[in-house]
Amino acid sequence: SSERTLSIIKPDAVANNYIGEIYRRFETAGLQIIAARMMHLTREQAESFYGVHRERPFFADLVSFMISGPVMVQVLEGESAILKNREIMGATNPAEAAAGTIRHDLAETVDANAVHGSDAVDTAREEIAFFFGDDELHSRA
Ligand code: CMP
Repeated sequence: SSERTLSIIKPDAVANNYIGEIYRRFETAGLQIIAARMMHLTREQAESFYGVHRERPFFADLVSFMISGPVMVQVLEGESAILKNREIMGATNPAEAAAGTIRHDLAETVDANAVHGSDAVDTAREEIAFFFGDDELHSRA
């Protein structure tokens, strides 16, 4: 069934001029971009967005990286959008990501791994609401 998922193009991929390349991969896979915003996250926003990871050893580095430059935030909509986006992204660690995935092809390290994507229906709903109001979601479904 049709789903929505929250996607972030991280500071490394924005700096490397990969926004269009990544959008092309989403659209080729049948995912529609129904909302998008470029933003430079504040520390408070990054800490809140990644709040579930607050106790993890990588939290401080993750937050520092995510506020190091602008990001592109978008909502993707389509059939099985959450899983489909995770397949397009590849494994969290680019070193473990399959050939042809965004993280294999366009990323270097586990923090600078080009993209974030929601991992489940509940988190997708929360993450979308973190960045966008319902009136900003331009669904064509
Ligand atoms: P992301 O999907 O944005 O969600 C949390 C991020 O933490 C993850 O991608 C990685 O960029 C980063 N991270 C750093 N170290 C780890 C780790 N050991 N396990 C999971 N995520 C990590």
